[in-house]
Amino acid sequence: MAYDFDKIAENYDRLNHLMTFGMDRRWRRRGAKWLTKGLWRPKCLDVAAGTGDLAFEMYCAGADEPVVCVDLSEKMLDIARSKMSLEAEYIVADAESLPFGDEGFDCVGCAFGIRNFVHLEQGLAEMVRVLKPGGRMMILEMSTPDDKTLRPFYNIYTRLVIPWLGERLANNREAYTYLPDSIERFPKGKKMIAKLESLGLKVRQRKLFFGVCRCYRCTKPQS
Ligand SMILES: C[S@@+](CC[C@H](N)C(=O)[O-])C[C@H]1O[C@@H](n2cnc3c(N)ncnc32)[C@H](O)[C@@H]1O
Repeated sequence: MAYDFDKIAENYDRLNHLMTFGMDRRWRRRGAKWLTKGLWRPKCLDVAAGTGDLAFEMYCAGADEPVVCVDLSEKMLDIARSKMSLEAEYIVADAESLPFGDEGFDCVGCAFGIRNFVHLEQGLAEMVRVLKPGGRMMILEMSTPDDKTLRPFYNIYTRLVIPWLGERLANNREAYTYLPDSIERFPKGKKMIAKLESLGLKVRQRKLFFGVCRCYRCTKPQS
């Protein structure tokens, strides 16, 4: 079953920025710019949009309005709605069964959401389905760093500091223990690229902050 983000919606932004030392904003910005680079007013979909920060960066990077935001959590989308100044559409729906016809979007993005899908392949297939031929998909996701010397620091931070912060600041240790577990389980690098290529996509990867975050930009073939 998918983790219920309604439980942490209220504190999500604050903790996210704190735990990444504000780098999450920069990562989304870089991902959104890479996604829309060279495109004129692309029609964009933010999958697992949460509180809408990627949708906002897509808009700043030139997306056409409205940017469409889809998420399972009504509370996360309520927060997005309350803080956004751009014209956006908010839809409570499952990414594994998107409520759109085929090939309607120029760009589809997903920031820190895909790791939470119950059926990763189904979610990816849906994102590709709604993408126009020649369209782009961008996935931003946390991962463990490749560099072995960084691993002990990374492990202490994610296994001890993050759950502690989660308990102190959001009164929810469980959610912030789930975070490093789900990062560890999620395919990264070559494995993730192979998964995306098996869907017929052309894939490029960028590592951000020593690979603690990875950005995959995929292009759908012109059929
Ligand atoms: C870690 S938050 C990321 C939110 C936002 N994209 C960001 O950049 O901060 C993960 C989000 O994925 C959503 N989510 C998880 N599984 C989903 C699914 N199957 N369909 C739609 N949204 C989903 C959760 O409700 C949550 O809002």
